[in-house]
Parts: sequence; C-alpha cells; structure tokens
Amino acid sequence: MTLYSRIAGTGSCLPPRRLSNADLVAELAAKGVETSDEWIVERTGIRARHFADAGVFSSDLGAEAARQALDAAGIAASDLDLIIVATSTPDMVFPSTACILQNKIGANGCAAFDVQAVCSGFVYALTVADAMIRTGAARNALVVGAEVFSRILDFSDRTTCVLFGDGAGAVVLQASATPGILASDLHADGRHVDILCVPGHVNGGAVMGDPLLRMDGQAVFKLAVGVLEDAARATLAKAGKTDADIDWLIPHQANIRIMQSTAKKLKLPADKLVVTVDQHGNTSAASIPLALDHLVRSGRTQAGQLAMLEGVGGGFTWGAVLLVL
Ligand code: ACO
Repeated sequence: MTLYSRIAGTGSCLPPRRLSNADLVAELAAKGVETSDEWIVERTGIRARHFADAGVFSSDLGAEAARQALDAAGIAASDLDLIIVATSTPDMVFPSTACILQNKIGANGCAAFDVQAVCSGFVYALTVADAMIRTGAARNALVVGAEVFSRILDFSDRTTCVLFGDGAGAVVLQASATPGILASDLHADGRHVDILCVPGHVNGGAVMGDPLLRMDGQAVFKLAVGVLEDAARATLAKAGKTDADIDWLIPHQANIRIMQSTAKKLKLPADKLVVTVDQHGNTSAASIPLALDHLVRSGRTQAGQLAMLEGVGGGFTWGAVLLVL
C-alpha cells in the first residue's frame, strides 16, 4: 500500500504586543528614523506586526502553535515521533529549538531537529517530514515554523526594520492511506548568500561581524518573483495538475506585490490568494504555517481542496509544496 502524509491539524501563535504602522513610525521617529504608514503600505502591504517581549523565544511561540495543532489533530504530544522546527532565530546556538520545544510540550523521546532555510524553512521542513513519513520512518510529525525576527533587526535601518514580525505556525503531519502532500520542489542558489543575510558569527565568546539582518531588497524582489512561478509550475507538473486546480495559494508573506504578481502569473483570482502579511508582516519561516492556520480556522476551506504553499528567502532558497487540505 502506498503511504502518504496528510495535515491532520494546524495551529499558530502571535505574541500579544501588536504594533500598527503608526505605532512603529512613532517609535522609530523617537530614534530619528523617518518612515511613514503610506510608504510601508504602498511598498509592502504591511499594516501591523507583532513583537515578542524580552524573554520570549521561538520555542515559546512554537510550543503554543504546536499545542493548538495537536488539539486540532486530536493527538497527544506523546504520540509524536518526529519534530522539525524551521527557524533562523533559534533560542540558542545549540541545542536545537526543536529539542527545547519538545521539552516544553512534553514530547520527550521522539526525533527532533531544526531546519535552516530562512523564509523557505517551512516548505523545506514539510518536505523532509513528508519524505520521512512516506518511507515509514515516522507516523506523527510536528512541523513548526517559529521566529523572533525582532531580535535581529537593525532599528536604525528603515529599509528592513519595518518589514518583519514575530510569530509561529505549526502542523501535525500524519501517515495516511489517502494522498495529502502531492508533490514538492526545493531549490537553493548559494551564489546569492550576500543579498539577504545576518553575517555575524560567535567566536571565542564574542559576536564577530554584523549580527543584524541585511537585505538588498530589490535584488531579493527580482529573484523572488521569477523563482516562485518556476517552483509552483514544477510542483504542479510533478503532481499532474494545472494552475486551474489550485484552490488556495499560500505564499511566503513578505510583500503583497510579490504575492500578487505570483498569483497573476498562475492566473489565480484575488480571492484564492491567502493574505496575512498586512497583519503579521514578514515572519520568515512562520509566515506560511501562520497563514495556513488562519485560512483553516476562517472556515473558508473544504476538505479535498488543493493548496499551493510557496517559500522564498535567504540562501537564496525557494520551494513549493502542493497538498490536499
Ligand atoms: N520608509 C520610507 N522610505 C523608505 C523606507 C521606509 N521604511 N525604506 C526605504 N525607503 C526609501 C529609500 O531610501 C529610497 O529612497 P530614495 O529613492 O530617495 O533613495 C526609496 O524609499 C525606494 O527604496 P527601494 O529600496 O527602491 O524601495 P522598493 O520599492 O524596492 O521597496 C522593499 C523596498 C519593500 C524592501 C522591496 O524591495 C521588497 O519587498 N523586496 C523583497 C523583500 C522580500 O521579499 N524578502 C523576502 C525574503 S525575506 C527572508 O528571507 C528573511
């Protein structure tokens, strides 16, 4: 019998501190950094983001999202045999955020590790979990995207600090006799390491180099628009589907203009594009599972519909996953 993996439950978590553009503009003005609600909305579609308080880590946000996903799936943490956390803002250098989260939700004993592919992290992690389930290496997997990007932002750099937020999303992926994940397509091109990075590192107890997020926004924008269409088309082809079969497009929530351009290339009407970037900003690896959970909990989906998930980010990395809801 062919074995598939299927999403059995979703969850998400946003830290309570919400900053509208007006709130952030006022905070930045106090530091002498000039920006405006108009600029942020027009260039990115972002209207608000959530920031975690000091002492709250990716594992805390991820654990709350995980508890919701476990509840929705109707299984206990002790039923998990695999945890994968996608994050670029881990709690520590090591151990992995997945191990810390595992302890917080009481799933001790199962395999747990992190995946690092920046904003593509969730589609990478989902693809790895799917492969492990289909080979029989796991039956109940928890896949989490969790980030506290506010910790790596340079609040004197208006070209980046207005774009990002904190949050987490999670899914329980279960072995199934009927298809769930139909196909995926992952890529990376390390020639573009420098266009989006946090270049610092730890050496001898000190941070060496620059430990804050740096981005060539226009270079990222140009690459993102092209590769997202390619990844979606490759994934559809692998699954024997076409643009018209997509019920929901859930892209990485970085910039509304990139998202709308991808939807247009796939000939999808606006109501099939899932948008949370306006309320969450760019939450990196958390953005896709956050958007997925918001869609599922909105009651707008029906069992059997097809969702295309698409990630793109630092590395440069990109990829897509086509799945049955
Ligand atoms: N407020 C006001 N003005 C600003 C701000 C700001 N926050 N930021 C930049 N500007 C100014 C610039 O200084 C520039 O002024 P100038 O013309 O006088 O020099 C002007 O606005 C235009 O700047 P651009 O960088 O050309 O603006 P652009 O239209 O390219 O938008 C943006 C910038 C939003 C970053 C865009 O390039 C983008 O979205 N890039 C993609 C980001 C992305 O998708 N990242 C995904 C991956 S994220 C990850 O992997 C972690």
